Amino acid sequence: RRIFHLGDFPEVEGLHADAVDPQLHDLLRETTERGEHLVREIVLPGPREGEERVYQALSSTMLDTDGRPRGVVAVLRDVTGQKELERMKSNFLSVVSHELKTPLHSIKGFVDIILLGKAGPITEVQRDFLETVRQQTGALQNLINDLLEFSRLEAGQVRLRLEPVPLGEVAAAVVEKLEPLARQGEVALHNRIPSDLDPVEGDRMRLEQVLTNLVDNAIKFTPSGGQVTLEAQDLGEAVQVWVHDTGIGIPPAERERVFDRFYQVDSGSTRPYRGTGLGLSICKHIVERHQGHIWIEDREGPGTTFTFVLPKELKREGEEPSLDFTTPRPRSGKGAGRAR
Ligand SMILES: Nc1ncnc2c1ncn2[C@@H]1O[C@H](COP(=O)(O)OP(=O)(O)O)[C@@H](O)[C@H]1O
Ligand SMILES: [Mg+2]
Repeated sequence: RRIFHLGDFPEVEGLHADAVDPQLHDLLRETTERGEHLVREIVLPGPREGEERVYQALSSTMLDTDGRPRGVVAVLRDVTGQKELERMKSNFLSVVSHELKTPLHSIKGFVDIILLGKAGPITEVQRDFLETVRQQTGALQNLINDLLEFSRLEAGQVRLRLEPVPLGEVAAAVVEKLEPLARQGEVALHNRIPSDLDPVEGDRMRLEQVLTNLVDNAIKFTPSGGQVTLEAQDLGEAVQVWVHDTGIGIPPAERERVFDRFYQVDSGSTRPYRGTGLGLSICKHIVERHQGHIWIEDREGPGTTFTFVLPKELKREGEEPSLDFTTPRPRSGKGAGRAR
């Protein structure tokens, strides 16, 4: 009654959901139709003028002793505070990442200039140290970019720039980019994705990011002498891509969790692998924003096979309301460009 502002409504008895709220009505109807549990978020006006409260609604079908549906129960939990905290957390993350980016950019720039000898001659030892500074700065930049990207994706603040994306071309670019890394790790990289594969509707930069993450992992977790293979297949309405490696593999019990943020499989005492554990959760976010799926295939033999399916055309349900709260403040001078 408090949630729906019913006051001392006397006849709760025969109260129909549609008399209360259409969102709830829809939820109950769908639960009845599908005969299962549903979880949904609904937004209702709060007690104060202009206030909105977010509820997590769990609904489930009640069965009688013969297993026939008798009714539906819905529980509403007020998650407004939680939502606000989440929003603040990701805002904080993206503001901090932005503030870190600018000084790093300038550190890297100056180190580059010194390394080029433009600030006077440097000794071999100095060069050696500066190379390390440059490398570590690069690693820090990657980490910050991942954090920034992740916090935006998680907060739903990323607007996709849709265009027809030829995955064959994207794969070729990714393979070319990561070829040096593969050579360094003595891993053979095979790209079997046909260059004339039908395009999918998507954000090219972000789909490239997905492939980059997968191929980078495949190379990283494959000992020297191994193979990494990219394949793709046209499924008619969609395209499926596989990234297969002959590396250390992922135990079945860990296969869901590797898509969690910051999750890394405990590799025991083996050599520590660089990384943040954000790559795959970013991949999953991106693929799902493209109405696709990503998972690890069960295959015989050693190694790991990641695969994802992307529809060729996205289904549209009205305009997507993704406001970008994190657009960098316009500031004079260098740095922060337009948000993606
Ligand atoms: N191809 C692979 N082979 C074996 N393990 C993998 C592979 N890809 C991912 N993993 C495991 O999943 C974890 C999460 O991957 P990811 O999210 O990309 O984070 P990161 O690469 O930064 O560690 C990795 O740390 C690793 O334990
Ligand atoms: Mg990774």
